[in-house]
Amino acid sequence: MARKMKGAVLPGNSTVEFREYDVPQPGHGEVLIKMKSSTICGSDIRAIYHEHLGKGPEGYQGVIAGHEPCGQIVDEGPGLRRFKKGDRVIVYHISGCGVCNDCRRGYMISCTSAEHRKAYGWQRDGGMAEYLIAEEKDLVLLPDSLSYTDGAQVACGFGTVYEGLEKIGVSGNDRVLVTGLGPVGLAALMLAKAMGATTTIGIDVIPERLEIAKSLGLADHVLTAGPDNVRQVMEITEGQGCEKTVDCSANDKARLTCIQAARKWGKICFIGEGGKVEFQPSPDIIHDQKTIYGSWVTNIWRMEELVERIVRWGIHPEDLVTHRFSLEEADSAYELMAGGKCGKVAVVFDEEVK
Ligand SMILES: NC(=O)c1ccc[n+]([C@@H]2O[C@H](COP(=O)([O-])OP(=O)(O)OC[C@H]3O[C@@H](n4cnc5c(N)ncnc54)[C@H](O)[C@@H]3O)[C@@H](O)[C@H]2O)c1
Ligand SMILES: [Zn+2]
Ligand SMILES: [Zn+2]
Repeated sequence: MARKMKGAVLPGNSTVEFREYDVPQPGHGEVLIKMKSSTICGSDIRAIYHEHLGKGPEGYQGVIAGHEPCGQIVDEGPGLRRFKKGDRVIVYHISGCGVCNDCRRGYMISCTSAEHRKAYGWQRDGGMAEYLIAEEKDLVLLPDSLSYTDGAQVACGFGTVYEGLEKIGVSGNDRVLVTGLGPVGLAALMLAKAMGATTTIGIDVIPERLEIAKSLGLADHVLTAGPDNVRQVMEITEGQGCEKTVDCSANDKARLTCIQAARKWGKICFIGEGGKVEFQPSPDIIHDQKTIYGSWVTNIWRMEELVERIVRWGIHPEDLVTHRFSLEEADSAYELMAGGKCGKVAVVFDEEVK
C-alpha cells in the first residue's frame, strides 16, 4: 500500500489546494477506508469554498475537505466490534463524543461536546483524499446492491431529507411541494415519490435543475420560481394546496411559498439553511392550522434504516449525479457545483470511475 496520499483542502478563495499526507494509521476503534466516492454538498460551497464563513459546528479547520465519503475498509485498528476489512461503508459525517444525550439519541450532528465533536471534512479529515480514518461507531454498512456513489449521498443529502420527510410523515395521502432543486431538493423529490406521494411539484430558478427533476421523473410538475408560485400550486392541486411542503432552497420567498402553498392542516419542513423568512402568523399558519418543522441532518439508526429501504424501494441516489471527476480534477468539481448548472457532483476512485 502507498505510504503517501494526496488530499484536497479548500483555502476559502474559490479554489482547491492539493497537499501530500502520510497515509494515516487507524487507532483504537478506528478503521482506514479506501475512498471510492466523495460527493460535494451545497454546504461546502456556502460555508467553505468561497469563504470560510462557518462558526462552531460549521467552522472549517483547514482539514482534508469532503463530508460525504463512502468507501471500503482496508485496515483495522485494535478493538473493533462489528466492522472489518473488506466491508463497504458509509460514514455518518459527524463524529460525536458518543456519550452526551444527543449522541445517545444517534444525533451526533448536535453532539454537545466542544472537545470531541468533529465533523469529517470540517474539523477532521474528510473524503477528498485516497484514504480516510473513521471511527467504527460512525459507520453504516453499505448494502451490496448499492454503489459507493449511492452511499456517499446517503450520509448528508438523503439522510437529511429522509429525516425531514419522516418528521412531516410523507405517504400516499400526500401531494408534496419541494422548493430548491439542488441535490437536497432532488433527493426530497426522489424519496417523497418512493414513500408514496401521489403528486410531486418542484420549484427552482435554474432551468437545468428543473430539467433534471423532470427528466428523471422525480417531479410531476416543475415551476420556475416567481411571484405566481402559490397560485400555480393551487391550480395543480384543485385549489387546495399540498399536504406536505419542503424547503430545500433557504430562499425567503421560497420558504413563504412553502408556507402559503401548504394545504389547511398541512405540514411544512424547513431544510435549507441560513437566511430569513417573513410571514403573517394568523393568515399564513394559525387560521389554517399549519405546522412548520425544522430538521437538521439525521440520526445514525435512521441512516441505517434508510439504506435498507432504498434497496427495497429500488431507487438509486446515484441517479442524481450528473458529473464525475477524479481527485486530481477536484477544482473543476467544486467550480461546477458552485455554478449550480448540475445535479450532484462526485469525486470518484477505482471502480466508481465511469
Ligand atoms: N438542514 C440540514 O440538515 C441540511 C443538510 C444539508 C444541507 N442543508 C441545506 O440545504 C440547502 C440545499 O442544499 P443543496 O446542496 O441542494 O444546495 P444548492 O445550493 O445546490 O441548492 C439550493 C437550490 O435552491 C434554489 N433556489 C434559490 N432561490 C430559489 C427560489 N426563490 N425558489 C426556489 N429555489 C430557489 C437554487 O437555485 C438552488 O438550485 C442548503 O441551504 C444547504 O445548506 C441543510
Ligand atoms: Zn452535506
Ligand atoms: Zn456527544
